[in-house]
Amino acid sequence: MSLEIQNVSKIFPGPRQGFFGRGEGFTALDDVSLSIRKGASFGLVGESGSGKTTLTRCILRLESLSAGNILFNGSDIHKLTLLQMRRLRSRLQIVFQDPYASLDPRMTVHDIVAEPLVIHGDVVNMTASRRTERVMELLLQVGLRSEHMFRYPHEFSGGQRQRIGIARALAVNPEFLILDEPTSALDVSVQADVLNLLHRLQVELGLTYFFISHDLGVIRYICDDVAVIYRGKVVEQGPVAAIFDNPQSDYTRMLLDAMPDPDPDRSPFRKIAAV
Ligand SMILES: Nc1ncnc2c1ncn2[C@@H]1O[C@H](COP(=O)(O)OP(=O)(O)O)[C@@H](O)[C@H]1O
Ligand SMILES: [Mg+2]
Repeated sequence: MSLEIQNVSKIFPGPRQGFFGRGEGFTALDDVSLSIRKGASFGLVGESGSGKTTLTRCILRLESLSAGNILFNGSDIHKLTLLQMRRLRSRLQIVFQDPYASLDPRMTVHDIVAEPLVIHGDVVNMTASRRTERVMELLLQVGLRSEHMFRYPHEFSGGQRQRIGIARALAVNPEFLILDEPTSALDVSVQADVLNLLHRLQVELGLTYFFISHDLGVIRYICDDVAVIYRGKVVEQGPVAAIFDNPQSDYTRMLLDAMPDPDPDRSPFRKIAAV
C-alpha cells in the first residue's frame, strides 16, 4: 500500500480574540509532499516541534488538513466514509513514542494485544480462543514469552513495553506501520534491540514503514528513503545514502554534524550493523 502526501499544510488556529476574532494561526505543516512506496522504509527526521507527529495525526485523520491531500493507494483518506476509514485502519497501524503512556495500565497484555482483533472483528473475525493463540504468536514474534500475556504493563521494562506496543500494532496483520519515534523514550542500551526487532519484522513481514525520528543515526539503520523536515517544511528528501553522502541543505548538514561519532565499538547500533 503506497502513501502519497500531496502539498499538505496544517495551520492550528490562534488564540481567541474578542467574540469572533482569532490571533494569528500557527503553521505546523507547510506544503509537505512525500511519497512512500509499498515495501519501503521511509524515514522522516526533524527536531522536536518540527511537525512530525502532526503529520501522523493528519494521516490517521485525527486532524483535518488546512490544504492538500493524503492518498492511500490512490484514494483520498480525508474523503473516506467512517466504515472505509475503519477498514483502512486495519491495514495501517501505529506504534507510539511513549510505551508508558500508550498502554492502558488496567489491561492485561493479552487484552492490550487482542484489542485491535476485537475492534476489527468484522475484518479478522476470530473466536476468543483463536485470538488468544494469535496473542501468543505475536508475543513470541516480538521476543516476549506467551506467559507474559497474563501480566500488566507496569511489570515490564520500557523496551518490553514497546515490544507489547509493536505486538498490538501487528495483531491485525497490517501492511503499513507508522512508527512515531518508537525508540526515543527508551534507554540507549535497549534502543538497538528494539530497532533490530523492527528491522527484522519489516523484512520478514514485508511491511511498509513510515519511520519518524529526531535521530539521523536511527534513520540510517532502518530506512531506505528519508525526508528532512524543519519547522513544518520538507527541506530535502531522497535515498538515505545520498542524503548522508551529499546533504543539500544547511539544516541536514547540521543534523549530520550533531550525530555522535560513529565509533562501531561504542555505538548502540553496532548490533544492527551485523544484521
Ligand atoms: N493542537 C495543536 N494546537 C496548536 N499547536 C499545536 C497543536 N498540536 C501541535 N501543535 C504545535 O505544532 C508544532 C509541531 O508539533 P509536533 O507535530 O508535535 O512536532 P514533533 O512531533 O515534530 O515534535 C509544535 O510547535 C506544537 O506546539
Ligand atoms: Mg512528535
